[in-house]
Amino acid sequence: MNLSVENLSAAYGDTRVLWDVSLEIGEREIVALIGSNGAGKSTLLGAISGLVDIVGGEVRYGDVKLNELPPDRIVQSGVVQVPQGRRLFGSLSVRENLLMGAYLRRDKEVEADLERVLAMLPRLRERIGYLAGRLSGGEQQQVAIARALMARPKMLLIDEMSLGLAPVLVDSLLDILTQIHASGVAILMVEQDVQTALEFAERAYVLETGRITLTGPAHALLDDPNVKKAYLGV
Ligand SMILES: Nc1ncnc2c1ncn2[C@@H]1O[C@H](COP(=O)(O)OP(=O)(O)OP(=O)(O)O)[C@@H](O)[C@H]1O
Ligand SMILES: [Mg+2]
Repeated sequence: MNLSVENLSAAYGDTRVLWDVSLEIGEREIVALIGSNGAGKSTLLGAISGLVDIVGGEVRYGDVKLNELPPDRIVQSGVVQVPQGRRLFGSLSVRENLLMGAYLRRDKEVEADLERVLAMLPRLRERIGYLAGRLSGGEQQQVAIARALMARPKMLLIDEMSLGLAPVLVDSLLDILTQIHASGVAILMVEQDVQTALEFAERAYVLETGRITLTGPAHALLDDPNVKKAYLGV
Protein backbone atom coordinates (compact mmCIF):
# COMPACT_ATOMS: atom_id res chain seq x y z
CA MET A 1 0.00 0.00 0.00
CA ASN A 2 1.11 3.55 -0.69
CA LEU A 3 1.28 6.28 1.89
CA SER A 4 0.01 9.51 0.34
CA VAL A 5 0.29 12.93 1.91
CA GLU A 6 -1.81 15.45 0.02
CA ASN A 7 -1.66 19.21 0.45
CA LEU A 8 -0.97 18.83 4.12
CA SER A 9 -0.80 21.92 6.31
CA ALA A 10 0.05 21.92 10.00
CA ALA A 11 0.43 24.56 12.68
CA TYR A 12 1.30 24.95 16.35
CA GLY A 13 -1.30 27.40 17.60
CA ASP A 14 -1.15 30.37 15.24
CA THR A 15 2.24 29.44 13.86
CA ARG A 16 1.96 27.64 10.55
CA VAL A 17 4.76 25.13 10.05
CA LEU A 18 3.78 23.10 6.95
CA TRP A 19 2.23 24.44 3.75
CA ASP A 20 0.55 22.17 1.17
CA VAL A 21 3.01 19.34 1.56
CA SER A 22 2.43 16.43 -0.81
CA LEU A 23 4.46 13.28 -0.94
CA GLU A 24 4.07 9.60 -1.69
CA ILE A 25 5.86 6.51 -0.44
CA GLY A 26 5.27 3.30 -2.31
CA GLU A 27 5.08 -0.18 -0.92
CA ARG A 28 8.65 -1.36 -0.18
CA GLU A 29 10.16 1.96 -1.23
CA ILE A 30 13.01 3.76 0.57
CA VAL A 31 12.43 7.51 0.53
CA ALA A 32 14.50 10.26 2.17
CA LEU A 33 13.19 13.56 3.49
CA ILE A 34 15.90 16.16 3.91
CA GLY A 35 15.92 19.78 5.02
CA SER A 36 17.53 22.21 7.43
CA ASN A 37 16.90 22.53 11.16
CA GLY A 38 13.38 23.72 11.79
CA ALA A 39 12.17 23.02 8.23
CA GLY A 40 9.30 20.96 9.60
CA LYS A 41 10.53 17.41 9.03
CA SER A 42 9.59 16.09 12.48
CA THR A 43 6.30 17.96 12.31
CA LEU A 44 5.52 16.16 9.05
CA LEU A 45 6.26 12.77 10.60
CA GLY A 46 4.20 13.78 13.62
CA ALA A 47 1.28 14.72 11.37
CA ILE A 48 1.46 11.36 9.57
CA SER A 49 1.54 9.56 12.94
CA GLY A 50 -1.40 11.54 14.31
CA LEU A 51 0.70 13.29 16.95
CA VAL A 52 0.47 16.75 15.39
CA ASP A 53 -2.87 18.27 14.41
CA ILE A 54 -3.28 19.14 10.78
CA VAL A 55 -5.14 22.20 9.56
CA GLY A 56 -5.58 21.07 5.96
CA GLY A 57 -5.00 18.25 3.54
CA GLU A 58 -5.02 14.55 4.18
CA VAL A 59 -2.86 11.51 4.84
CA ARG A 60 -3.91 8.20 3.33
CA TYR A 61 -2.44 4.74 3.69
CA GLY A 62 -4.02 2.68 0.96
CA ASP A 63 -7.72 3.48 1.31
CA VAL A 64 -7.50 4.43 4.98
CA LYS A 65 -7.51 8.11 5.95
CA LEU A 66 -4.89 8.18 8.66
CA ASN A 67 -5.71 11.76 9.61
CA GLU A 68 -9.09 10.57 10.87
CA LEU A 69 -7.52 7.97 13.17
CA PRO A 70 -5.94 8.34 16.62
CA PRO A 71 -2.19 7.58 16.94
CA ASP A 72 -2.66 4.03 18.27
CA ARG A 73 -4.85 3.06 15.30
CA ILE A 74 -2.28 4.53 12.91
CA VAL A 75 0.37 2.28 14.48
CA GLN A 76 -2.00 -0.69 14.14
CA SER A 77 -2.48 0.12 10.45
CA GLY A 78 1.25 -0.52 9.99
CA VAL A 79 2.70 3.00 9.90
CA VAL A 80 5.18 3.23 12.78
CA GLN A 81 7.57 6.00 13.75
CA VAL A 82 11.05 5.84 15.28
CA PRO A 83 11.10 9.26 16.94
CA GLN A 84 13.89 11.82 16.88
CA GLY A 85 15.93 11.53 20.09
CA ARG A 86 14.90 7.86 20.45
CA ARG A 87 12.50 8.49 23.38
CA LEU A 88 13.34 5.32 25.27
CA PHE A 89 12.26 4.53 28.81
CA GLY A 90 15.71 4.93 30.31
CA SER A 91 14.94 3.32 33.63
CA LEU A 92 13.36 0.25 32.03
CA SER A 93 15.29 -2.68 30.61
CA VAL A 94 15.91 -3.20 26.91
CA ARG A 95 13.43 -6.09 27.00
CA GLU A 96 10.76 -3.91 28.61
CA ASN A 97 11.35 -1.17 26.06
CA LEU A 98 10.96 -3.66 23.22
CA LEU A 99 7.74 -5.06 24.67
CA MET A 100 6.40 -1.48 24.84
CA GLY A 101 6.47 -1.54 21.05
CA ALA A 102 3.98 -4.41 21.10
CA TYR A 103 1.61 -3.02 23.73
CA LEU A 104 -1.21 -2.54 21.20
CA ARG A 105 -1.03 -6.09 19.95
CA ARG A 106 -3.48 -8.73 21.06
CA ASP A 107 -1.96 -11.67 19.24
CA LYS A 108 0.10 -14.38 20.86
CA GLU A 109 3.16 -13.98 18.68
CA VAL A 110 4.86 -11.21 20.61
CA GLU A 111 7.50 -13.50 22.12
CA ALA A 112 8.22 -15.02 18.72
CA ASP A 113 8.59 -11.55 17.25
CA LEU A 114 10.94 -10.53 20.05
CA GLU A 115 13.08 -13.52 19.11
CA ARG A 116 13.01 -12.55 15.43
CA VAL A 117 13.94 -8.93 16.22
CA LEU A 118 16.80 -10.03 18.48
CA ALA A 119 18.06 -12.32 15.72
CA MET A 120 18.28 -9.24 13.50
CA LEU A 121 19.92 -7.13 16.25
CA PRO A 122 22.19 -9.55 18.13
CA ARG A 123 23.80 -6.74 20.11
CA LEU A 124 20.48 -6.20 21.88
CA ARG A 125 20.32 -9.82 22.93
CA GLU A 126 23.57 -9.25 24.82
CA ARG A 127 22.06 -6.15 26.41
CA ILE A 128 18.53 -7.44 26.95
CA GLY A 129 18.54 -7.03 30.74
CA TYR A 130 20.36 -3.68 30.81
CA LEU A 131 18.60 -0.44 31.59
CA ALA A 132 18.09 1.37 28.28
CA GLY A 133 19.46 4.59 29.76
CA ARG A 134 22.82 2.90 30.36
CA LEU A 135 23.39 1.93 26.73
CA SER A 136 25.61 3.75 24.23
CA GLY A 137 23.98 6.05 21.69
CA GLY A 138 24.27 3.49 18.91
CA GLU A 139 22.74 0.78 21.06
CA GLN A 140 19.91 3.08 22.11
CA GLN A 141 19.13 3.79 18.47
CA GLN A 142 19.00 0.03 17.88
CA VAL A 143 16.51 -0.28 20.74
CA ALA A 144 14.36 2.47 19.23
CA ILE A 145 14.32 0.70 15.86
CA ALA A 146 13.69 -2.70 17.47
CA ARG A 147 10.82 -1.29 19.52
CA ALA A 148 9.20 -0.02 16.32
CA LEU A 149 9.64 -3.46 14.72
CA MET A 150 7.72 -5.00 17.62
CA ALA A 151 4.64 -3.17 16.31
CA ARG A 152 4.94 -5.10 13.00
CA PRO A 153 5.34 -2.07 10.74
CA LYS A 154 4.69 -2.12 7.03
CA MET A 155 6.05 1.41 6.77
CA LEU A 156 8.73 2.76 9.07
CA LEU A 157 9.20 6.52 9.57
CA ILE A 158 12.68 7.11 11.00
CA ASP A 159 13.58 10.54 12.34
CA GLU A 160 17.28 11.52 12.50
CA MET A 161 18.63 8.05 13.02
CA SER A 162 22.25 9.11 12.59
CA LEU A 163 22.24 12.13 14.87
CA GLY A 164 25.25 12.16 17.20
CA LEU A 165 26.55 8.78 16.06
CA ALA A 166 29.97 7.92 14.61
CA PRO A 167 29.99 6.94 10.91
CA VAL A 168 30.82 3.32 11.69
CA LEU A 169 27.71 3.07 13.89
CA VAL A 170 25.58 4.74 11.23
CA ASP A 171 26.83 2.15 8.73
CA SER A 172 25.78 -0.71 10.97
CA LEU A 173 22.35 0.87 11.48
CA LEU A 174 21.98 1.21 7.71
CA ASP A 175 22.77 -2.50 7.39
CA ILE A 176 19.93 -3.15 9.82
CA LEU A 177 17.60 -0.95 7.75
CA THR A 178 18.61 -2.88 4.65
CA GLN A 179 17.51 -6.11 6.35
CA ILE A 180 14.26 -4.53 7.52
CA HIS A 181 13.59 -3.29 3.99
CA ALA A 182 14.37 -6.74 2.56
CA SER A 183 11.74 -8.19 4.89
CA GLY A 184 9.12 -6.11 3.06
CA VAL A 185 8.97 -2.84 4.98
CA ALA A 186 8.90 0.58 3.29
CA ILE A 187 11.09 3.28 4.85
CA LEU A 188 10.77 7.06 5.07
CA MET A 189 14.00 8.39 6.52
CA VAL A 190 14.38 11.92 7.78
CA GLU A 191 18.05 12.84 7.90
CA GLN A 192 20.32 15.79 8.46
CA ASP A 193 23.13 13.67 7.07
CA VAL A 194 22.05 14.41 3.52
CA GLN A 195 24.88 12.52 1.84
CA THR A 196 24.09 9.33 3.74
CA ALA A 197 20.35 9.66 3.17
CA LEU A 198 20.65 10.26 -0.56
CA GLU A 199 23.07 7.37 -0.98
CA PHE A 200 20.71 5.03 0.86
CA ALA A 201 17.31 6.07 -0.48
CA GLU A 202 15.76 5.47 -3.89
CA ARG A 203 13.88 8.78 -4.00
CA ALA A 204 13.98 11.94 -1.94
CA TYR A 205 12.11 15.12 -1.08
CA VAL A 206 13.60 18.42 0.07
CA LEU A 207 11.57 20.35 2.66
CA GLU A 208 12.42 24.04 3.10
CA THR A 209 10.59 26.17 5.67
CA GLY A 210 7.53 23.98 5.52
CA ARG A 211 7.29 23.44 1.79
CA ILE A 212 8.50 20.69 -0.55
CA THR A 213 10.87 22.46 -2.94
CA LEU A 214 12.45 19.57 -4.81
CA THR A 215 11.87 15.86 -5.40
CA GLY A 216 13.36 13.17 -7.59
CA PRO A 217 15.55 10.09 -7.67
CA ALA A 218 18.03 10.27 -4.79
CA HIS A 219 21.08 10.06 -7.08
CA ALA A 220 19.75 12.98 -9.13
CA LEU A 221 19.40 15.09 -5.98
CA LEU A 222 22.97 14.17 -5.00
CA ASP A 223 24.09 15.76 -8.28
CA ASP A 224 21.74 18.75 -8.05
CA PRO A 225 23.73 22.00 -7.77
CA ASN A 226 21.25 23.56 -5.31
CA VAL A 227 21.32 20.49 -3.07
CA LYS A 228 25.10 20.39 -3.23
CA LYS A 229 25.36 24.03 -2.28
CA ALA A 230 22.73 24.01 0.48
CA TYR A 231 23.22 20.61 2.06
CA LEU A 232 26.48 19.02 0.99
CA GLY A 233 28.83 21.99 1.41
CA VAL A 234 30.36 21.60 -2.04
N1 LIG B 1 5.52 21.56 19.92
C1 LIG B 1 5.81 22.69 19.24
N2 LIG B 1 5.23 23.86 19.53
C2 LIG B 1 5.49 24.98 18.83
N3 LIG B 1 6.37 25.04 17.81
C3 LIG B 1 7.00 23.91 17.47
C4 LIG B 1 6.77 22.67 18.17
N4 LIG B 1 7.53 21.72 17.60
C5 LIG B 1 8.22 22.32 16.61
N5 LIG B 1 7.91 23.64 16.52
C6 LIG B 1 8.42 24.59 15.52
O1 LIG B 1 8.03 24.14 14.25
C7 LIG B 1 9.07 24.32 13.30
C8 LIG B 1 9.43 23.00 12.67
O2 LIG B 1 9.98 22.15 13.67
P1 LIG B 1 10.36 20.65 13.38
O3 LIG B 1 10.82 20.05 14.66
O4 LIG B 1 9.27 19.99 12.65
O5 LIG B 1 11.61 20.83 12.38
P2 LIG B 1 12.69 19.77 11.90
O6 LIG B 1 12.82 19.95 10.45
O7 LIG B 1 12.36 18.43 12.41
O8 LIG B 1 14.01 20.32 12.64
P3 LIG B 1 15.28 19.53 13.20
O9 LIG B 1 16.16 19.30 12.02
O10 LIG B 1 15.89 20.49 14.16
O11 LIG B 1 14.81 18.27 13.84
C9 LIG B 1 10.21 24.97 14.07
O12 LIG B 1 10.15 26.35 13.86
C10 LIG B 1 9.93 24.62 15.51
O13 LIG B 1 10.44 25.60 16.37
MG1 LIG C 1 13.32 17.09 13.59
